[in-house]
Amino acid sequence: GAQMLTDTFSRKHTYLRISLTERCNLRCTYCMPADGVQLTAGERLLTAGEVQRLASLFVSAGVDKIRLTGGEPTVRPDLADICSRLSALPGLRTLALTSNGIALKRQLPQLKAAGLSALNISLDTLRPDRFEALTRRGGHARVLAAVEEALRLGYDPVKVNVVVMRGVNDDEVNDFVELTRDAPINVRFIEYMPFDGNVWSDSKMVPYRELLASIGAAHPGALAREDDPAGEVAKNFRLRGHRGTVSFVTSMTHAFCGDCNRLRLLADGSLKVCLFGANEVSLRDAMRAGASDEELALVISAAVDRKRAAHAGMFELAATANRPMITIGG
Ligand code: GTP
Ligand code: 5AD
Ligand code: SF4
Repeated sequence: GAQMLTDTFSRKHTYLRISLTERCNLRCTYCMPADGVQLTAGERLLTAGEVQRLASLFVSAGVDKIRLTGGEPTVRPDLADICSRLSALPGLRTLALTSNGIALKRQLPQLKAAGLSALNISLDTLRPDRFEALTRRGGHARVLAAVEEALRLGYDPVKVNVVVMRGVNDDEVNDFVELTRDAPINVRFIEYMPFDGNVWSDSKMVPYRELLASIGAAHPGALAREDDPAGEVAKNFRLRGHRGTVSFVTSMTHAFCGDCNRLRLLADGSLKVCLFGANEVSLRDAMRAGASDEELALVISAAVDRKRAAHAGMFELAATANRPMITIGG
């Protein structure tokens, strides 16, 4: 019941991120190790029915927002079916998706009809040549087309995620800010985080203070802080007169662990209680061994109780055992 999702620091977990696949149609350097990852065998991934059963259990215990991630969730053929099953859960208020936009445009009307209510699209550069270097693939125009389609279908805001890396795309910050001038786009600059195999270094991470200063210098007196809705990881701002907003996800320089309301269910059925660290338990194994809902609730509750107060801190994180980002989904 009500205690299942409350941890020993009184944090209530109302937001579940579900990774639907470890596969992706891009190879972003900050996410996918250069040598790729060992994919979990298909029969060890959660089926749509298993995702539905677990989601239903979490929603009955107080989760009101689910975000679908990957890998890249649009490569999963039953994505629309999963959206229909989850959006029907009584008590779920938001069904969101994080996508790289490559294969999204064509699927989006169907996903919207299936109950997808919020959309975050990853786009780290506005320059096609850079996009190829960063993603080790192509398709820049397709991502832009997906953003347009999301706006046309009325997603408001359309969130655009930009992982800022020094010497890679940090000179484009003010170009991204321009996207917010006339459209209900929320551009979110994300501090580069370390994961297994993603060649993070603190010198490549651009602190949010620095980004704020560079935007402020380009737009003197125009930046105003907005309210941060509860449970959001971003610090929100608006440039005076702009239709959209600009935010910062400051995991490295201003961690927000104290307010964390998130749990993660991975494609292989592992429940991960923190983005960082290796604290996981397999709900797939419990389910496939015949656990009842009550027994699953005990497994979940015990895992939530093992959640620590905060992540290890910026410099320790790079040395903390974890997975590659591609198998976590952000
Ligand atoms: P909203 O649900 O719209 O607030 O989006 P979100 O920021 O939670 O999700 P999204 O998938 O767009 O992720 C954007 C960035 O935030 C990614 O780099 C994620 O890794 C990061 N992020 C999401 N959740 C957490 C978290 O619990 N802790 C930390 N440190 N970072 C997170
Ligand atoms: N640091 C910060 N954000 C990352 N993402 C992927 N890898 C990293 C990283 N190393 C972002 C993606 C996507 C979101 C789910 O996580 O760009 O928008
Ligand atoms: Fe694929 Fe997203 Fe990872 Fe890029 S960040 S490799 S698009 S899952």
